[in-house]
Amino acid sequence: MINKLLVIEDDPGLQSQLRWCFDGFEVVVADDEESALNQIKKHNPSVVTLDLGLPPDAGGVAVGFSILEKIVQSNSATKVIVVTGQEDRANALKAIKMGAYDFFNKPIDAKILALVVDRAYQLYCIEQENRALVAKNVHSPLRGIITSSASMLAVCRTIEKIAPSDLSVLVLGESGTGKEVVARAIHDLSKNSKGNFIAINCAAIPENLLESELFGHEKGAFTGASSQKKGKVEMANNGTLFLDEIGDMALDLQSKMLRFLQERVIERVGGVKEILITTRVICATHQPLKEMIKSKTFREDLYFRLNDINIDLPPLRERDDDILLLAKVFLERYAKQQNKAIKGLSPAAEYVLQNYECQGNVRELEQIIRRAVIMSGNDYIQPDDLLLSESNVMANITLNKEKPLTLSLVRRKAETLAIYGAMEKVDGNVSKAAKLLDVSRPTLYALIERLDIDFNQAQ
Ligand SMILES: Nc1ncnc2c1ncn2[C@@H]1O[C@H](COP(=O)(O)OP(=O)(O)O)[C@@H](O)[C@H]1O
Ligand SMILES: [Mg+2]
Repeated sequence: MINKLLVIEDDPGLQSQLRWCFDGFEVVVADDEESALNQIKKHNPSVVTLDLGLPPDAGGVAVGFSILEKIVQSNSATKVIVVTGQEDRANALKAIKMGAYDFFNKPIDAKILALVVDRAYQLYCIEQENRALVAKNVHSPLRGIITSSASMLAVCRTIEKIAPSDLSVLVLGESGTGKEVVARAIHDLSKNSKGNFIAINCAAIPENLLESELFGHEKGAFTGASSQKKGKVEMANNGTLFLDEIGDMALDLQSKMLRFLQERVIERVGGVKEILITTRVICATHQPLKEMIKSKTFREDLYFRLNDINIDLPPLRERDDDILLLAKVFLERYAKQQNKAIKGLSPAAEYVLQNYECQGNVRELEQIIRRAVIMSGNDYIQPDDLLLSESNVMANITLNKEKPLTLSLVRRKAETLAIYGAMEKVDGNVSKAAKLLDVSRPTLYALIERLDIDFNQAQ
């Protein structure tokens, strides 16, 4: 950021004196209201010194106040230092009340004025930093969602748009891609955020219990129903009902669910009265629902009820650099939790992670890092701490389904891994590493050069 200072002063002598006495500022000048406002528009200065007496009212203060008012009203962060006559306390105070940062009495002592300007500039910078932080939080991914990838940021924008509506949302994505995280983010931003977020995993509850789990039961409704119990749907009244793994819901329950979604009333098992429920419904599944509809294991009408809008979460391998970003955030989190002073991932560990295809997506990555933090005995996480067996890593490298690899790329990756591994075993001693790898020292150097391996970072 270039620090710009605007000097608004109609005395040519003072103007030229002030032009040169502020170190570290690019100084621009103006001598009346019109030129002042133009300069502000053009340069957006961080600090302005403002002589109150300007033409056509050089003897009064009206023009100065008019400029001050406009700067303050424009809601800019610019700091205004008002320059007044010696005896002009009342106007100085008035200027401060209007929002000027400080005032300064004539005759001007350039050194002191420079100090005042510096201080104003520092405050300006702090305010700018705060603004930037606030702005970043507003635009950053939502609470609980860590990402910098374009595809996930687009998901975040969608969430922001649909959360306040009552559209039913179907979240699709492989296991561990963050479907529940997304559901919670929608709830947090919805008008039902003060109500409960009730999650129910349709795959984890025995089929015969799912109905009473969802809709509740009256006392004596079945053996074991010793008291009345509210179901999850009822607990989600005025909140959000998250039906996870909806693809695993049995067909007869699907019909009951559909009835609830159409009529918005429930009946507890064994009950007689209907209860009206207002709740936001969000569903998720990793199952291919459309195929299930074809094979008649999922009701098409239910699908359309649940799916006012669907959100497709990309797998982790399709999220640019998210693997490393997430790994770093998890590392910090778990290092703190475990009270370990781990500084980061070694370049080799980064390399291994980047080339490892987390089938279990974010959930698996989180587990890998949590385990690595526990295993680690160094400042930096090493590949061994990740506990991904070499064959595992290699299989992942070679069997990458999405992008078939050429043999030369596989060789390159394998060589890189082997060299990282050897160098770490011998603490970066090239002669010893060459011995381990059964190549000559010059060959190893040449390989390091050719593969563009970087050992300069802290290991
Ligand atoms: N973008 C993300 N940022 C931070 N943590 C995430 C993200 N996505 C998933 N997680 C974490 O990964 C784990 C799995 O997420 P979850 O929503 O349960 O996945 P899914 O329901 O798709 O299987 C959770 O611990 C969750 O906090
Ligand atoms: Mg889940």
